[in-house]
Amino acid sequence: MIIKTAEFVTSAVKPQQYPPADMPEIAFAGRSNVGKSSLINTLVNRKRLVKTSSTPGRTQLINFFIINEMFSFVDLPGYGYAKVPVTVKKKWGPMVETYLSERTSLEGVVLIMDIRRTPKQEELSFIDWLRHFNIPAILTLTKTDKLSKTKQKKQQMLISETLSVDKDDLLLFSAKSRHGKDKVWEAIESVSGNTEFCTPDP
Ligand code: GTP
Ligand code: MG
Repeated sequence: MIIKTAEFVTSAVKPQQYPPADMPEIAFAGRSNVGKSSLINTLVNRKRLVKTSSTPGRTQLINFFIINEMFSFVDLPGYGYAKVPVTVKKKWGPMVETYLSERTSLEGVVLIMDIRRTPKQEELSFIDWLRHFNIPAILTLTKTDKLSKTKQKKQQMLISETLSVDKDDLLLFSAKSRHGKDKVWEAIESVSGNTEFCTPDP
């Protein structure tokens, strides 16, 4: 995928604030600080399109980006960070559920998990939500650079059992080494029926 342009469009809480749903859209979700924003930046070859932070819970709004003036990426706020104020936590569920249920242009969600951690109830519930709304899920294990190849395989197996999915459905990724970037792009292209995602590299 050749990235010609990648632009921030707007931040939103409610559907009235979303940009028009006139392009195929892929959203990125996962626990706070897991590396959602870093994954988006890696996919689009930009260091700072999306703000990343070592302080968890920085992304608290739904952020919309337009790539190549053809499709849209959405950085969803992370869940599960204890220090986020209760008022923010209470808003997270309805904000994300409304987005998932109402966004007509949404073609798939990349759910990002830390390869070192066993998925918890939040991940299981999130996958259930996606199934319920009939939204294809791309399951990605990130920060693989933190583990040896052997440990990566072991964690991939363990996480696949916890989530009751095939281990090959868990894509391995690292924003640090950029390993797995092409696989994530391929998955995005395959969930999207839209050929805009599939512009071949020259
Ligand atoms: P919130 O928006 O706060 O929910 O976080 P986020 O999920 O967007 O995470 P972000 O991309 O901001 O990354 C959080 C921290 O993890 C940053 O310090 C990143 O540099 C680091 N990080 C993200 N991806 C990787 C990775 O693949 N490997 C390593 N080693 N660090 C990573
Ligand atoms: Mg973020």
